[in-house]
Order: sequence, then C-alpha cells, then structure tokens
Amino acid sequence: MNAEIRKLLAELEEQGRAHDAGETDRSRKFLNLESETARIVSMLARGFRATRALEIGTSNGYSTIWLAASVAPAGGRVITIDRSAEKQKMARENLAKTGLLESIELRCGDATEIIAALPGPFDFVFFDADRISAPKQLALLLPKLSPQAFLLADNALSHPAEIADYLAAIQNVNGVQHALIPVGKGLSVALTDAG
Ligand SMILES: C[S@@+](CC[C@H](N)C(=O)[O-])C[C@H]1O[C@@H](n2cnc3c(N)ncnc32)[C@H](O)[C@@H]1O
Repeated sequence: MNAEIRKLLAELEEQGRAHDAGETDRSRKFLNLESETARIVSMLARGFRATRALEIGTSNGYSTIWLAASVAPAGGRVITIDRSAEKQKMARENLAKTGLLESIELRCGDATEIIAALPGPFDFVFFDADRISAPKQLALLLPKLSPQAFLLADNALSHPAEIADYLAAIQNVNGVQHALIPVGKGLSVALTDAG
C-alpha cells in the first residue's frame, strides 16, 4: 500500500470519528472499521491472494480502500454493496483519490437482493452491514464461493444477539475452520474447505 493511500486512510479515520461523534442519526454514521480490524482484514486478503472479494457494507469506502489496496496488486477485484446512495457517493469520491476505482464495483441497494443476483465466484467475503440479514446472505453465497474462501464478519462481540444466527450458521458449514478474534468490535473469521 503506498504512502498516499495510508495518508488518506489516516484522514478518513479522523473524519469518521468526528463525523460519527456529531451525527445523531445512526443510519448516517460512517461506522468505519477500527483500524486494527482493518489491518487484519487486509493481511488476510493480501496473504491469501484473494482475487474475487465481496464487501457487504461500503459506507464511505474506508474498509473498501483497505480491501482493494490488498487485492488489486494480485489482479483482484472488489464488489462492494451499500443501500445508502449518499454514502456510496462519498465512497466513490474517496476511492477516486486512491487510483483503485477500476478494481472496484460499487453496487447500491439491498445487499440480500443484490447477492441473490451476483454470479460469483467469491474467495473473500466481508460482512459489515446489518447482522440480521447475514445468515440469509451466507446461504445465498455458499454455492457461489471458490473452493477455498475466507468469510469475515465484524461486530461479533459488540452485537452478540444480532450476530448469533450468523455465527451458528458459519460454524455449521461443512469443512469450515472458524475463530473469533477479539479485535475491535470482534471479528469472525472462517475459512471454508479448511481440510
Ligand atoms: C458498519 S457500516 C460499514 C462500514 C464500512 N465497512 C467501513 O468500515 O468503512 C454498515 C453499512 O451497511 C449498510 N447496510 C446495512 N444494512 C444493509 C443492507 N441490508 N443492504 C445494503 N446495505 C446495508 C449501511 O448503509 C452502512 O453504510
């Protein structure tokens, strides 16, 4: 990741904190990943040499930049989904500053509906939208995964009741290896076909 992108990410971290502290409407908050969590997501994507990444929950593009910067050097691409057109516009503007836009497809709408129509395959999926829809989205995605795929989900510790069904579902996937990393808000990490 080049110095300009690192600088932009640091600026977005500051902006995100200030924005969310002053915004009372939760749906308008950016709710960006903690930077420590973003680093782990990035290292897994880069180390795995993921090429077909899917992000559910774009917000203003903070985590999308981490993901795209991690997969683009290996020729990878990211599809990222958010239902907020306003946030997607901000994400596009932020992503345009990185030179990574051509590796990213921004999709606007309900994630479950969009996922149902996506062909896949995906080798890296990051769930960071509403936890309630995640089990349905997981079920739709399972047949669209590459033989080995990482499935990550944030908020595994911060929203235990909301994410419980997803955690139960992911741990039930055949051949999956799962761990809950106590970083940031809690990161669920699963590798399918772990052998
Ligand atoms: C926690 S924020 C994502 C933060 C982002 N990953 C980051 O770290 O910068 C969750 C986002 O998911 C979006 N979202 C929530 N439920 C959704 C759904 N069912 N379909 C599409 N987008 C959804 C919200 O609009 C919000 O922008």
